[in-house]
Amino acid sequence: MRRSQPFLVAALLDAATFAQASVPLDNFVLIDQNGTAQELYYQSDAKALVIIASDSSCGSTAADLERVKSLQKRFGADGARFMLLNSDPKTTRKSLRDYSVSQSADLPILHDDTQVISRALGLKATGDTLVINPGNWSVNWHGNLSGAHEGLAQLTKADASVALSSTAPESKGCALTWEPVESGLTYTADVAPILRDNCAVCHTTGGIAPWAMTGYEMVRGFSPMIREVLRTKRMPPWHADPEVGTFIHDKGISRKDLRTLVSWVEQGAVRGEGEDILAAKPVAWQDWPLGKPDLILEIPSYSVPATGVVDYQFPRIPNPLKKSVWVSAATVVPGDRSAVHHVLMGASELGVPVPEGRENVFDNYIIGYAPGNESAEMPEGTGVFVQPGTDFLFQMHYTPYGKQATDRTKVGLYFHKAAPKNFLRHTVVINPTIQIPPNTEASAQAAYFEFDKPAVVYSLVPHAHYRGKASKFELLLPDGTRQEVLNVPHYDFNWQRTYAFKEPLQVPTGGKLIHTTIYDNSVKNARNPDPERTVPWGLQSHDEMLYGAVSFAWVDETAAKPIHDKGLADTYQWVGFLDRNMDGRLSWPELPERMKKRLVQGFKMVDANGDGGLDAKELFALNKRQQAAQQPEQKTPPAR
Ligand code: HEC
Repeated sequence: MRRSQPFLVAALLDAATFAQASVPLDNFVLIDQNGTAQELYYQSDAKALVIIASDSSCGSTAADLERVKSLQKRFGADGARFMLLNSDPKTTRKSLRDYSVSQSADLPILHDDTQVISRALGLKATGDTLVINPGNWSVNWHGNLSGAHEGLAQLTKADASVALSSTAPESKGCALTWEPVESGLTYTADVAPILRDNCAVCHTTGGIAPWAMTGYEMVRGFSPMIREVLRTKRMPPWHADPEVGTFIHDKGISRKDLRTLVSWVEQGAVRGEGEDILAAKPVAWQDWPLGKPDLILEIPSYSVPATGVVDYQFPRIPNPLKKSVWVSAATVVPGDRSAVHHVLMGASELGVPVPEGRENVFDNYIIGYAPGNESAEMPEGTGVFVQPGTDFLFQMHYTPYGKQATDRTKVGLYFHKAAPKNFLRHTVVINPTIQIPPNTEASAQAAYFEFDKPAVVYSLVPHAHYRGKASKFELLLPDGTRQEVLNVPHYDFNWQRTYAFKEPLQVPTGGKLIHTTIYDNSVKNARNPDPERTVPWGLQSHDEMLYGAVSFAWVDETAAKPIHDKGLADTYQWVGFLDRNMDGRLSWPELPERMKKRLVQGFKMVDANGDGGLDAKELFALNKRQQAAQQPEQKTPPAR
């Protein structure tokens, strides 16, 4: 039997209390109809924020929307901002988007799929409206939409004598329907099992999280923060939009579990009877979660200063093996987790020297480590081929943290017993020409990679720095269809996730993988080191990157018959960021100055098929001709 909670705690923490006018609203993040993350506290520059409960299946919603539109017209210029809030878990992104398009609704429609936000806001029926004061996050006015102009006039200081045209009577609205939340939730019966399965791998003694879920007392102490990180989608650190794509090792939390955790906190974080499983059977942190490695490499130790910026380090380790191997998996164990920001690793190719100070980890890429991405397993039937006489290559990014530190990072490699069917290939969709404008809240930058042969795409890793706000990948097919395959609406620079598709993407010849990142270079981005700056590409975190790692295989390649041409793939890579209109070829205005100079033979001659643009194949052929003509020749634009 569930123990009933003490009355006082229940009264204090009852969901409705969280929405009381005098109490500032807690922050939240919800995804809108366009897949964009909307954060409450990000609206701090509005004079008033209006949130209206809405559901298009309710008859009065059309009238409500008309009213919202007239309020927008009336108060928008005075700094009022409007958002609809749909709390029907069964509603889909598509239906919200279709609705907003068909109604020309120019405002975000937030989807509260877990209902924890709408409940805490105390919303009861459609048309129920909150007028919020972003100055202190208090609810200035709460009632039916028909009266919202009162609260708005007060907050925006708009001329109240100008009466609102709409005098329509209060709309009836439809009662919001709630998925049931059990009362009397307890830590032992309801919460500890969820924490064990979703959180404790990291939140354990010796784990990567800053605090360990060692038992009830600890968890209760952190309970307000647990509620906060769940409401703002910070934890668990997965960050992929659940409505786009399905992924292996999905670390997202289910709606039901999220609701249970938040409701438990709001009900007073009661312990309950019985054993405390997190204390009795702690989840152990494992250095080698994939088992004992076949080979352990120790990266030469590096002394990280207490302060300053450390240049990227490119150590290398001669391959100690006497026989060729196929790498099937790898795990990185950072020596000093606070100092190691990330590690990228690959192997050189036999007979292809890698100049000192260059990492070239992408030619034979094995793993990219960052917290939460300790291990990489190659997709079934694939591996990375490493021959004797080569070097293991690393790119190390160290970040000083106030204390001198010595790092000794280790890498464990796992080998296939027998040769796999195919090579795992890698590319990065990058744009080193980005210029992110100053004082801009959302500037989009994009690039693509075109597959010139049929391919299977296994996984994606979006990467940006402090100004990265959201990131997405789309597949553009030769017939013009464009499909979202990964959406990370709330990018978090602390985390570098590998999103591996449950069903790998089949990409036909000419398919383009488009990577778009939105950057927030405004003062509202708390992590932004300098909003006044036009930010260029750069490896260090104060510069930016548009960078998306892609692992794939060529459909027509086998381990016995390699067809990958690195030079050609590199050409496709840089065409993919110079080609602004994404038509697959570079027109004269799209060519960078130094390339225009190189085209001594004339544009028309290089444009072999005479279509008015230079595609990757034509440019690659030009490069080869020029290399043959004048050795040694400078390499084409940087790989990264
Ligand atoms: C993959 C590892 C990982 C998982 C899984 C994980 N966390 Fe975390 N958690 C971290 C790390 C690392 C931090 C600190 C860095 C950050 O905030 O991103 C953190 C921070 C936190 C914080 C403190 C936030 C702060 O401001 O200091 C809370 C609370 C938290 N996590 C709760 C949870 C809960 C609840 C879950 C499960 C639903 C969870 N975490 C799952 C790694 C993890």
